[in-house]
Amino acid sequence: MPSARHSAKSRRSSFRCVEVSLPGEWSALRIDPDRLLGRIDELGQIGRIDGPNGEWGNARLALTDEDRAGRDLVVAWMRDLGLDVVVDAIGNVVATRAGLDPTLSPVMVGSHIDTVGTGGRFDGNLGVLAGLEIVETLEQARVSTERALQVAFFTDEEGSRFAPDMLGSLVYVGGLALEEALDLVAADDGARLGDELDRIGYAGPVPCPTATAPHAYVELHIEQGPVLEAEGITIGVVEGVQGISWTEIVIIGQSAHAGTTPMRLRHDPGYCAAAITTYVRDLTRHLGRDQFGTVGRIDVFPNLVNVVPARVVMTVDLRNTDDRILREAESRLATFLEELVESEGVTISTNSLARFEPVDFDASMVDLVHATAERLGHSTKRMPSGAGHDAQMLARVCPTAMVFTPSVGGLSHNIAEYTEPGDIEAGANVLLQVVLEMLTGAESD
Ligand code: GLV
Ligand code: MN
Ligand code: MN
Repeated sequence: MPSARHSAKSRRSSFRCVEVSLPGEWSALRIDPDRLLGRIDELGQIGRIDGPNGEWGNARLALTDEDRAGRDLVVAWMRDLGLDVVVDAIGNVVATRAGLDPTLSPVMVGSHIDTVGTGGRFDGNLGVLAGLEIVETLEQARVSTERALQVAFFTDEEGSRFAPDMLGSLVYVGGLALEEALDLVAADDGARLGDELDRIGYAGPVPCPTATAPHAYVELHIEQGPVLEAEGITIGVVEGVQGISWTEIVIIGQSAHAGTTPMRLRHDPGYCAAAITTYVRDLTRHLGRDQFGTVGRIDVFPNLVNVVPARVVMTVDLRNTDDRILREAESRLATFLEELVESEGVTISTNSLARFEPVDFDASMVDLVHATAERLGHSTKRMPSGAGHDAQMLARVCPTAMVFTPSVGGLSHNIAEYTEPGDIEAGANVLLQVVLEMLTGAESD
């Protein structure tokens, strides 16, 4: 871990920012929603996917040509705003608006601009572009702040192409060695991460992990689930992120003729994949409604109608806010795999792609988000995040919090993902006011 890492205990004792105490003229500052929505739409044109009913989203998988084009656009916007832009060795981009007191550590906002292969235009992008909108709002109002403000986007948050998810922020905080990350291999085309980073021109010169932790990190993100919309609430005050466990399972059996091989003599990885998928759903029923389970990828070889498959590679995504129950889910799945090996006569190997414990955000920061949203007149709900976020990695090195805005129909990781303009505006203004509160430098490092 980098030397800047604080223990949870020292973080809490060194950070005081619960009161909402901005000077009058700052507390009246608001972002320009049209400018923010314009940037979201413009970035969304890169890797755009159109659906049949007018819905549209994005495919900008990490370190692809589309990701490069998205990065180039956002970096150009950062430079146009006069920010000092640096790229680190894992391709994270951090843009800084200087503060009046260079001895104070900066406040950071951000998220990611990569997407899943069939993603929406708000997931991640909102947090980064709201950061730029805040910078432009401060510039226009000629507001100088004690602390510097940083807007960051982190490499490969989605983890769809290179697991684990939150990869760039994980390396940023020293949770995964840079060399190990650079050697990761893409799930789709087998490319090496370090080579792809070089290819798109984002293997930067700044060392990673970072030598200096931010003073605090705040991330605005869409909820990506149905809770806020269903309850008619505008702002989710995120208290933490649930634990995540990703496992890749490789099942090897015997390829055989579909018409001649008696059922009792088969060693069928296709059958095993189906059984595992059903078992994962059953597991969630047995372990309660906080247990999530998903089989998102199944690759069958040779994938032909009249051939018993030789091999299956599949993934299981398990999540829970309670790590004890998550461990129970992992253990039951492992037992089930052993039983399948016995009963079907196949071999099964597993590879952990990601394992992150549940994270609690900083209590003072969470309170500040809550108080700020209420001051701005919004309905609020304290809630955990079901999705993984860069914020859960930044929470290892500095006080961290998140602001959620509603997702229409609860949809995300879907091109139909949508958040109403009024909710985007509300979320960005909460972010602005939270950030202003922290930028005043009232509390010491
Ligand atoms: C990342 O976005 C995840 O929650 O899978
Ligand atoms: Mn996201
Ligand atoms: Mn996502």
